[in-house]
Order: sequence, then C-alpha cells, then structure tokens
Amino acid sequence: MAGNTIGTEFRVTTWGESHGAAVGATVDGCPPNIPLTETDIQKEMDRRRPGRFSSASARNEKDRVEILSGVFEGKTTGTPISLLIRNVDADSAAYEELRDVFRPGHGDYSYFQKYGIRDHRGGGRASGRETAARVAAGAVARKVMAREGLRVLAFTRELGGIPARVISLDEVDKNHLFCPDPEAAAKMVEELARVKETGDSVGGIVEIRVQGCPPGLGEPVFDKMDADLAKALMSIGTVKAVEFGAGFEAARLQGSENNDPISRNGFLANRAGGILAGITTGEEIVIRVGCKPIASIRKEQETIDVSGNPRKISIGGRHDVSVIPRIIPVCEAMTCIILADHLLRRRTIEK
Ligand SMILES: Cc1cc2nc3c(=O)[nH]c(=O)nc-3n(C[C@H](O)[C@H](O)[C@H](O)COP(=O)(O)O)c2cc1C
Repeated sequence: MAGNTIGTEFRVTTWGESHGAAVGATVDGCPPNIPLTETDIQKEMDRRRPGRFSSASARNEKDRVEILSGVFEGKTTGTPISLLIRNVDADSAAYEELRDVFRPGHGDYSYFQKYGIRDHRGGGRASGRETAARVAAGAVARKVMAREGLRVLAFTRELGGIPARVISLDEVDKNHLFCPDPEAAAKMVEELARVKETGDSVGGIVEIRVQGCPPGLGEPVFDKMDADLAKALMSIGTVKAVEFGAGFEAARLQGSENNDPISRNGFLANRAGGILAGITTGEEIVIRVGCKPIASIRKEQETIDVSGNPRKISIGGRHDVSVIPRIIPVCEAMTCIILADHLLRRRTIEK
C-alpha cells in the first residue's frame, strides 16, 4: 500500500482524500533555519485554488494551510514539517449516484480492482484535491531551492488544441490561464466556455522552465534528473506524457541537427533541455507535460456498475472543464520538490 512518499533527502508524504476531514503533507529532511511562514505557503495555494475561474470546479475551498510542526519562530527547525489543509466545501451528496458506478477515464474502476473498496466521494485519493498537499510541500521546496538561486516557472503551452505562439514569460501571471501569449489566452477562454456548454472537457500542454540551475545535479543511473522529474510529473492526475528539450521532436532529427554544439562560452543551443546523461548542464531545464481532458463530463457515456451491469452515465457535480490552469502550480511544486531533493543529495556527496 506504499507509494505516498517521494524524495530521498527531501522527502514528501501526502495523505488525505477529497471528501475526508483534510488533506496534508509531511516534509521530512528540510534543512533548519530557513524562514518559513503560513503566508509563504498560502501564496502558492491561492494560485491552485478551485472556484476562482468559470472553467474551474465551482468548489469554493479557502485552502488555508496550517503548519503543525517543524517551524519555530518563523524558521524551520530541521524536524518534520506537517502541513494541514482542511476540506471545508466538500459536497458529497453530488457523488451519491457514483457510489456503485465507475466513471470512464477516472480511477474508480482501477481503485476498485486493486483495493476492493473505494471512497467514491470526489474521487477519494485520486482526486485533484490531493494536489493541494503537493503545492503546500512544493512551497517549502521552493524556499530550499531559492537559497541557491533556482527559479521554477510553469505556463500553458497549449489548451484545447490552441497553442501559445508567443512565449512572453512576463505575461504568464497576468491572465488566469497562466498563458504567455495574451492573444492565445483570449481564444482559450472562449474555447473553454464553448466546451463547457457542450458538457465536455479538453486537455492541454504545460511547459516548465527551471532557471539558475547549477550543473551537476542528478544521480545516475536510476535517479537521473530527467528520470526523477518525469516520475514526479507523471504522478499528477491527467498527466499522460512528459518530454525534455526537443523531446519527441528529437526522434525526427539527425544527430547533427539535434546535438547542442559546445563553445568555450557554453552551449550554443539547448535541445537537450538542460540535462545530459541525467545530469544538469547548467542550461535552462525545459520540460513539457501533456494532460488529458478531465474525465468527469456531463455528456452521456457507457459504463458498468460494480456488479458488471451496463449503465449510462452523465456526471454532474463540480468539475473542471480542463485541468489547466489548476495543474500549473502543481507542476511547479513537483519540479521544486525534485530539485530540492537533488540539491540536498549533491551536498551529501560533497561532505
Ligand atoms: C488540479 C487537478 C484537478 C482535477 N480536477 C478534476 C475534476 O474536477 N474532475 C475529474 O474528473 N478529474 C479531475 N482531475 C483529474 C483526476 O485526478 C485524474 O484524471 C484521475 O485521478 C485519473 O488519473 P489519470 O488521469 O492519471 O489516469 C484533476 C487533476 C488535477 C491535477
């Protein structure tokens, strides 16, 4: 039943279900004497919170994070940091009709096959709600990283088939879709509204950039930087693909086109996306994450109930039309957690 912990030196465990009393995270291995307040974490939580935009779930969670341990007089103590986020706006009634029926595309069927029991309310542990705990833990990781000058930024590269054509990073926090291209953002908003009307959902692509990363992070061979980042990002619900640098496009290039030439002053291109042989090169890390459409849709679909009887299902309740934009801070959080872990692992070698 394990599988709720990630990291080697900087270890994060998340716990809790969508409609339980709370969700939370325990962060173990955070160095002492790092300034940390609930406000620091809250800033990140507010970026992920549902109920802010019309395309997002109407669930109105305040997502107030409480630090229960590991911080004394505004500084980390080196002991486990326990973070709690109470579920205050869970409406379980809407899920009653899903008690015996499996939603196509969600974890209902596979959880039931594995455990023989499932918390049908809001998707239980497979809910997007679990990612609130990741964002809280990611805020702690970001503090560890920031000490060494690393910055992580994620944005919407594509939504519902509409690509961001201009990548202007200054624009990312100026619109609620975290889109670097304001013109594309306007089209995405229209598309989300249109799809919502039809009772359907759409997917998209998130791009993550890590700036200021030193060379030498990553532990070959099984804990390569790209391997660990891919695992962390693939562990987020709806994520179906992860690519680095040129990614799948590299498979269509020749070596002479794909290799990044090296000069005395550094690399002359960055198709590797900042990682070679699982070790960071010091170039910007560039990752793209492919997200499937949200599974819970109003459009009628075929399914079965727990006894194997055929059923038709149309899902009401409060669901996102797209996992974008809410997944953006989650992608940042998972990236921060892996980078903080590898920064601390590198230190262990240096001792
Ligand atoms: C931030 C976030 C919000 C989500 N919101 C919903 C939602 O409202 N409805 C839904 O059906 N799935 C939602 N999901 C997706 C499910 O968690 C996910 O699709 C499900 O666990 C199945 O896992 P898989 O997509 O990896 O196969 C959300 C995921 C994230 C990361």
